[in-house]
Amino acid sequence: MCGIVGYVGYRDCTEVLMDALSKLEYRGYDSAGIAVFDNEEIKVAKSKGRLADLAEKMKKTGRLSGHSGIGHTRWATHGEPSDVNSHPHSGERVTIVHNGIIENYKALKDFLVKEGRCFKSDTDTEVVAQLLDYYYDGDPIATIAAVTKELEGSYALGIIFADFPDTVFAIRRESPLIVGIGEKESFIASDVPAILKYTKNYYLLEHDEIAVLSRYSTSIYDLHYNKINKELKTADWDMDAAEKGGYEHFMLKEIFEQPTSIKTTITPRIVDGLPNLEECGITMEKLNGYKQIFVVACGTAMHAGVVGRYLIEKLARVPVNVEIASEFRYRDPIVSEGDLVIIISQSGETADSLAAMRLAKKLGAETLAIVNAKGSSIAREADMLIYTHAGPEIAVASTKAYMVQIAVMYLFAFELALAKGKITEDECRRLTSLLTQIPDTITKILENKAETQFIASELITADSLLYIGRGLDYALSMEGSLKLKEISYIHSESYAAGELKHGTISLISEGMPVIAVATQSDLFDKTISNIKEVKARGAKVVIVCRDSYNPDKDVADYKFGLPDEVEDLFMPMASVVPLQLIAYYTSVLRGNDVDKPRNLAKSVTVE
Ligand code: F6R
Repeated sequence: MCGIVGYVGYRDCTEVLMDALSKLEYRGYDSAGIAVFDNEEIKVAKSKGRLADLAEKMKKTGRLSGHSGIGHTRWATHGEPSDVNSHPHSGERVTIVHNGIIENYKALKDFLVKEGRCFKSDTDTEVVAQLLDYYYDGDPIATIAAVTKELEGSYALGIIFADFPDTVFAIRRESPLIVGIGEKESFIASDVPAILKYTKNYYLLEHDEIAVLSRYSTSIYDLHYNKINKELKTADWDMDAAEKGGYEHFMLKEIFEQPTSIKTTITPRIVDGLPNLEECGITMEKLNGYKQIFVVACGTAMHAGVVGRYLIEKLARVPVNVEIASEFRYRDPIVSEGDLVIIISQSGETADSLAAMRLAKKLGAETLAIVNAKGSSIAREADMLIYTHAGPEIAVASTKAYMVQIAVMYLFAFELALAKGKITEDECRRLTSLLTQIPDTITKILENKAETQFIASELITADSLLYIGRGLDYALSMEGSLKLKEISYIHSESYAAGELKHGTISLISEGMPVIAVATQSDLFDKTISNIKEVKARGAKVVIVCRDSYNPDKDVADYKFGLPDEVEDLFMPMASVVPLQLIAYYTSVLRGNDVDKPRNLAKSVTVE
């Protein structure tokens, strides 16, 4: 979390930094700040709140003018959101921006205080600025190398030295950082969308590599001052991908992009009508060997894993454990050689998922990453890799990334089932063909968005609500509930419908909304019985079910119908769409900042 940027070139630096930060605001929005070489002097402007607050402040305090500098948008960890805790932070001759956490900052701070240094903020970052200043002997690279040897934790740092005007230095460990290369200008950024307006060419900085950006040349060194030649990458996203394109919010745009995202993700992985993941390092022989599978992830990505478990166990009959990464990594899991551990992550940088993957590798398991962000840490370190091709997901609440994660789980489950001899080639071909029809189904469902708007208007005054379902519908209830609570701020829980009467049903009172997902034929009657139980106790029920089912008054108050022709197995890809839209419109109607919900950030690079 936190976004950092830097610029050296011929343009107005303040404009570039503010624009680039606006593309990274999803990484945190507790405060924003920039530092610019203005007449060869470092000047800083920073403010609690969003970028807009910083822009307002600069209208009063004066705009910084220059052609090089660094910027930051914050998700607070050490020190409350405030002007003084905002980045950039400075020593006497050094000013920095930081994404990450310095775990040993307390010991370093104690040492610096003993040495007579004074601190203004409560942040771990100011310790790094002061330490750089303490060690600085006129050689920036040697100083950065010396200081980073003392740091424990994660960091991507943008650094400027007062006596090196128009030069930006950068280094990373664990936290992501790219170096953008334009014509007579260069950039640093936490993520590619920040620089797309200016260039598509960039280097991925590896751990402990130091970048030195000046207007005419950009060089990368290791900690021993050796110059490194790196491969220049080209982003395959264009600017439109990081713009709202006429939609009111990124979240709505991303919901509507789902049909295309699925097509771009699955089409290259279907050969002659069958799933083919060989290009990702997954062969039929390998698949046949796995006896046990773990899916490890966080949040929405973990929910995609829950759908994956149902698919894999049903079709391939291989046992699957789905685990929250922050639990898995600390509970001494029983994983060993011969097991497959699948890590799902949109950002590819989630600290707990990355740590869980490293642990799995250490225990001898093979790892398969399903990742959206190209070149991210999880993508680079996994044994096998399936990229999802959703393009940049900007809204904090994940929608299209989840959709393509489950699309990949379908392909994987089909191929695994074929490899294990649990389905015939004909059946595999039939299932794969049905998967390719889902984008059109979703387009059809999206045409009914007004119905979800109406349902949302019935939810906005609720204090709390429940999502219920059985089997795959329960997996979808989990995701629907998370989506609603994270952006509407209405408390909600998901429950396996059959489990309600073991305690939770006592929460039901007159008018409490319950959203019931009932798409699975084999469980349908049982789910309807559970719905009747909550309805009889006063719940206001919204049912997401097949079009052809018309609920009586003792079952539901509102219905969202899904196309009848979708087979049960594929219903998750259909039913998640109204759940996403209901969450979206509830948030809009409550006047919330849909794309940037409070307290959250898109890329969770801290534990
Ligand atoms: C919720 C959401 C989060 C992420 C989670 C994992 O809408 O987006 O729950 O799914 O933080 O992030 P990634 O997928 O980047 O590892």
